[in-house]
Amino acid sequence: MSKKSITILAIETSCDETAVAVVEGSGGFRLPRFKILSSVVASQIKIHSRWGGVVPNLAKREHIKNLPIVLNKALLKAKIVKPDVLAVTTGPGLEPALWTGINFAKDLAQKWQIPVVAANHMEGHLAAVLLNPREKPIRFPMLALLVSGGHTELIFASSWLKYKKIGETQDDAAGEAFDKVARMLGLPYPGGPELARLAKSGNPAAFPFPRPMMRSKDFNFSFSGLKTAVLYTLRDLKEKSARVSKSDVAASFQEAAVDVLVSKTLSALQKFRTRSLVLGGGVAANKHLRSRIQYEIKKNKTTANLHLPLPKLTTDNAAMIAAAGYFHARKKDFTNWKRLMAHATLEL
Ligand code: KG4
Ligand code: ZN
Repeated sequence: MSKKSITILAIETSCDETAVAVVEGSGGFRLPRFKILSSVVASQIKIHSRWGGVVPNLAKREHIKNLPIVLNKALLKAKIVKPDVLAVTTGPGLEPALWTGINFAKDLAQKWQIPVVAANHMEGHLAAVLLNPREKPIRFPMLALLVSGGHTELIFASSWLKYKKIGETQDDAAGEAFDKVARMLGLPYPGGPELARLAKSGNPAAFPFPRPMMRSKDFNFSFSGLKTAVLYTLRDLKEKSARVSKSDVAASFQEAAVDVLVSKTLSALQKFRTRSLVLGGGVAANKHLRSRIQYEIKKNKTTANLHLPLPKLTTDNAAMIAAAGYFHARKKDFTNWKRLMAHATLEL
């Protein structure tokens, strides 16, 4: 372990995953490097799938139950008794869920007497790309497309910690649209990955679904019209008692959603001419989105290098929170544990 490395224990409870990770960060802002010593995620999917979505108070109950178990596993696996720094997600997310992680972190901060970083969940999704040991250094300025179940945004970054949001969804998030359309197709929650699987055997040109705001001059998104178009198509087919190819619907929806995401990202790259493009958030696990972005970046000869996070680290985990926390720790941007608060709508 180099002299300057920091061992960070991160806690993430913003939605339906109880996650604790221990990560060693080094290299500073110029060449940040991370080693995951442990990353434990307890998923609540089974509990929430009965309700077709996350129930905040159920999530809270489960987090409280899971946190001590997940912490012990993470410490044992990392073979440490006490980290140098704690990082805890304070937003954005479901407030009752966020508070469980925060209260847990408060107890640990008192017990261990170590500094705490109040971490932003979206900054975690952005930093997730750094957890791939084979990733090339990220050059700035950087453009990031963050696509999760709760957010869809384009971020311009002049360095780590210096962000400007240049566009975001006006209604549903991309992941939310995937989940809602999956539900219409009778797929289990969370539907995004299930829909992607079904789309593999479908025809993406079978239904000409709309591409909302694709030609608008700004960098904002809208997915609610696309979701409604799928709903009406399914209703019309049902009224006509026509056979519905669910895989065609899934593939056509995915094609439309990915078209919008890729096209907006490319226009942003053309305007801002950044040196890198980073993808983050659960939807960044989508293979079609990943390959389309790769293809377009090459074809358009953009100035940016593409950086994709490892698929398993795109969805919620605590290692990404530790990575984001590292930069704050290096700047000594700590929060007194007594002042830690949940901020459901925290911005980047
Ligand atoms: O980042 P994340 O784990 O949680 C939030 O912060 O919201 O993202 C979860 C979202 C869900 O909407 C899920 O359906 C979507 O990411 N997702 C996918 C895929 N894997 C996860 N959407 C499309 N294709 C996938 N392969
Ligand atoms: Zn997330």
